[in-house]
Amino acid sequence: MRQDIESILYDAECIHDRVLQVGTRITRDYQDKDLLLVGVLKGSFVFLADLARSIDLPVEVDFMVVSSYGSGTESSGVLTIAKDLSVPVEGRHVLIVEDIVDSGLTLSLLAEDLRSRGAASVQVAVLLEKDVPRSHQVECAYSAFHCPDAFLVGYGLDYAERYRNLPYIGILKPEVYEDRAQCPDARQSGR
Ligand code: IMP
Repeated sequence: MRQDIESILYDAECIHDRVLQVGTRITRDYQDKDLLLVGVLKGSFVFLADLARSIDLPVEVDFMVVSSYGSGTESSGVLTIAKDLSVPVEGRHVLIVEDIVDSGLTLSLLAEDLRSRGAASVQVAVLLEKDVPRSHQVECAYSAFHCPDAFLVGYGLDYAERYRNLPYIGILKPEVYEDRAQCPDARQSGR
């Protein structure tokens, strides 16, 4: 798989250090609070596994599978929930754990949805924040890295369901998705 990677942005050690720092901040901020970590599948599964273990609190973990669509420039959009939480969030402190924020549409809709269910608070912990003009405002209380506007894979992030198991985060060579774009079933991301 390494031959498909243009360059490694964050290696395993660097990711480990940053995730530990983020976890330490979360531990400090959520003392005496009933914290529910909500992982957005599939992309967050590696980050969530490491982040949860770096939080020294009795957290609960649940997962959602969501997708969103809408215009990149308008503030409205539609959230589709393919797998919902198995517990109610009313009165609970929810921390959404996401792999990457790009336009911000998915996270802004998801945070709004969880707030409307009566959560005591809804915050976001994101592994990567892309340095792009964001069409949908999302406040990321915790973010491990600010990254360039490139297509990234590894540490949970995929291209066409591949590369999630890379222990580092790298930039995918454009020829990989340009080649796949010729195939009728090519997909940008499996979330
Ligand atoms: P947004 O709604 O535009 O913020 O899209 C965020 C979602 O798009 C993420 O959860 C990923 O599934 C996907 N995504 C955006 N950028 C990348 C990338 O560079 N690599 C892999 N997936 C990405």
